[in-house]
Amino acid sequence: MIFIDACFRRETPYTPIWLMRQAGRYLNEYREVRSKAGSFLDLCKNVTLATEVTLQPIDILDCDAAILFSDILVIPLEMGMELNFVKNEGPKFESSIRNTEDLSKLTSGAHNKLSYVYDTISSVRTKLPRDKALIGFCGAPWTLATYMIEGQGSKTYANSKKMLYQNPKLLHAILQKVSDELKVYLKSQIKAGANAVMLFDSWAGALEMSAYFEFGFNYINDIAKDIKKDYPNIPIIAFPKGVSGYLEAFSNIEKNFEVFGIDWGTNMSYAKKILGSSFVLQGNMEPSRIYDLDSMIKGVEEIISVMGNKAGHIFNLGHGMLPDLPRENAIKLVQLVKEKTKR
Ligand code: CP3
Repeated sequence: MIFIDACFRRETPYTPIWLMRQAGRYLNEYREVRSKAGSFLDLCKNVTLATEVTLQPIDILDCDAAILFSDILVIPLEMGMELNFVKNEGPKFESSIRNTEDLSKLTSGAHNKLSYVYDTISSVRTKLPRDKALIGFCGAPWTLATYMIEGQGSKTYANSKKMLYQNPKLLHAILQKVSDELKVYLKSQIKAGANAVMLFDSWAGALEMSAYFEFGFNYINDIAKDIKKDYPNIPIIAFPKGVSGYLEAFSNIEKNFEVFGIDWGTNMSYAKKILGSSFVLQGNMEPSRIYDLDSMIKGVEEIISVMGNKAGHIFNLGHGMLPDLPRENAIKLVQLVKEKTKR
């Protein structure tokens, strides 16, 4: 598999490409299945339909990897936090975790209730062409904790940060409980057939450097280490979004994963200089360039001129596809990257 080879910095015929949020509303095929499924969570739990939407970007865009169709928030959901996706408002939990009593109500063994995820993975893997990889994923503990503590998305993360500075022990207890679930969850995804796993830390950039390493990145690295013990041949991708201000600090860490996801706010030549010899870099085109064909082509050329058509790079966006991006350009993007990086 070209994508897996690239994760381990092995030579490939071209630079592989997939797109974060490649299964989504910008595809009319996705919207059709989504309307059949009922709610977004119904779609995540419906193995047949979740398989179908996972495979759509492979059929339509010809990406080198599929990513499991699910959501990071199924972990808090299956730890007992009732969840709804409210139209135009995003995810909302019925309750939030603000004190020890709230924490004690969280159930363990969420990974046992996620058979719909494992079944989707097995079903996708049987239908996916053999040269295409299937990526499993989870949210990183810090990002999941922000949703659990705020009860919904947030701009300021006020409650989460208040806990971090006022009651760091409680935050660590939440992060540890979530981490314990995530270790088993990712290993179960691998057992079901995932060829690689990715940890999304979308709100890493909300924290100052020392706080991020203590409450964010350490947990990612610990989960990665635990998975590596059992599955050294499964590549792990970490994506701490918004950390360009202290990227240097990541060059000194214990290295438990292969691929570092670079967000669009980070200059790629800077990322290459700081991290390119320690990690394979994945990223990082600004998704909005896809609105305009010329801007997209320039974006591709810039990134390829920095990363070269050689091992060490996986092409991706610097964050997820937006619902109103033109699909024709997304199709062209995948073709263009493959052509321009042909060895
Ligand atoms: O990348 C993929 O194609 C795989 C599927 C995937 C989804 N969510 C599907 C989804 C993945 C990997 C995620 C991860 C995720 N979910 C993250 C981390 C990555 C990131 O974007 O930073 C986060 C923070 C979430 C939480 C989440 N899920 C939010 C904030 C929302 C609402 C925003 C929105 O776009 O509506 C979701 C819903 C969601 N997850 C959708 C999809 C396709 C849209 C739901 C719909 O179809 O109505």
